[in-house]
Amino acid sequence: MINDIRASVEADFARVNALIIDQLYSDVDMVENVGQYIVDSGGKRLRPLLTLLAAASVGEVTGKHITFAAIIEFIHTATLLHDDVVDISTLRRGKPTVNSEFGNAPSVLVGDFLYTRAFQLMVQLDDMRILALMADVTNQIAEGEVLQLVRAGDPETSREQYFDVITRKTAILFAAACEGAVMLSGESDDALAQMHSVGLNLGIAFQLIDDVLDYEGDPETTGKNVGDDLNEGKPTLPLIHAMTHASPEDAALIADSIRQKSVENLDVIVALATTTGGIEETRRAAIEHCGRVSTALADLPATVARASLEKLAEFSIARES
Ligand code: IPE
Ligand code: IPE
Ligand code: MG
Ligand code: MG
Repeated sequence: MINDIRASVEADFARVNALIIDQLYSDVDMVENVGQYIVDSGGKRLRPLLTLLAAASVGEVTGKHITFAAIIEFIHTATLLHDDVVDISTLRRGKPTVNSEFGNAPSVLVGDFLYTRAFQLMVQLDDMRILALMADVTNQIAEGEVLQLVRAGDPETSREQYFDVITRKTAILFAAACEGAVMLSGESDDALAQMHSVGLNLGIAFQLIDDVLDYEGDPETTGKNVGDDLNEGKPTLPLIHAMTHASPEDAALIADSIRQKSVENLDVIVALATTTGGIEETRRAAIEHCGRVSTALADLPATVARASLEKLAEFSIARES
């Protein structure tokens, strides 16, 4: 499905990938080695794809869009390098994480390299509005990850607090991938707000499904381990919903597992997330946000790019990886 979506911007997508590889250069060997390790292991490149499709939906894809798409992917990759240290994750993109292969320090420091390379590329764009957008976005992602850290181990976390975390840590970058693209195309403030909504809702749907896959995904397909979230005591929506719909004993078991950040009862908790409707409710919420993507896209001309954006939202929900 994602290959079909890419097809409409294939040549531009290849240019983004080439720029990503090209911009990993450093005269410090470890930077290049670790950078290549994470970039070569693939990744769906969903965010740069969003940038290209958003640009194509309002006009020409220019060199500035290519650079901006690479910037977005660098920032995403930097957050993954930091996130895997914080989450103590061992598997990413089907390979040992950088922290488990090279250590925590290289993962943090090369993450910093990718962040700062993104800002070097931004200077090339010479656009103060893009700089302001991305300064705010990276700041909010950092806040989102800290907020998640604060909430970790707290089963009292509300649904609203959960949505606040996923909006900041994930959806804001999706929103910027779309909004920045049309900003570079010189679109109106209304168009910017609409594209922001496309990316934001797609990003929320994407993270909701990520949180489902953390319980019922197949590591062979997702390239990530199951149970990572519980291991970090993350009160994600499948469990928040499960706790309010389970028997008092079962709810207490889930709450204790979150508090203790323990996967000891993972099998029971996966079963409870299913039987209480926690998984179903999380998928339902993702579908709702996918609907908001369609609403935000409705005013755009009916182009192939717009149809691809719709498909990308559907992919975010149907995906198994
Ligand atoms: C992983 O994002 C981090 C989340 C926001 C859930 P992706 O699933 O897009 O990661 P890659 O780039 O394809 O590996
Ligand atoms: C997304 O959250 C993290 C970032 C925004 C960096 P997760 O912690 O759920 O992402 P994965 O599951 O490790 O990819
Ligand atoms: Mg993680
Ligand atoms: Mg996850």
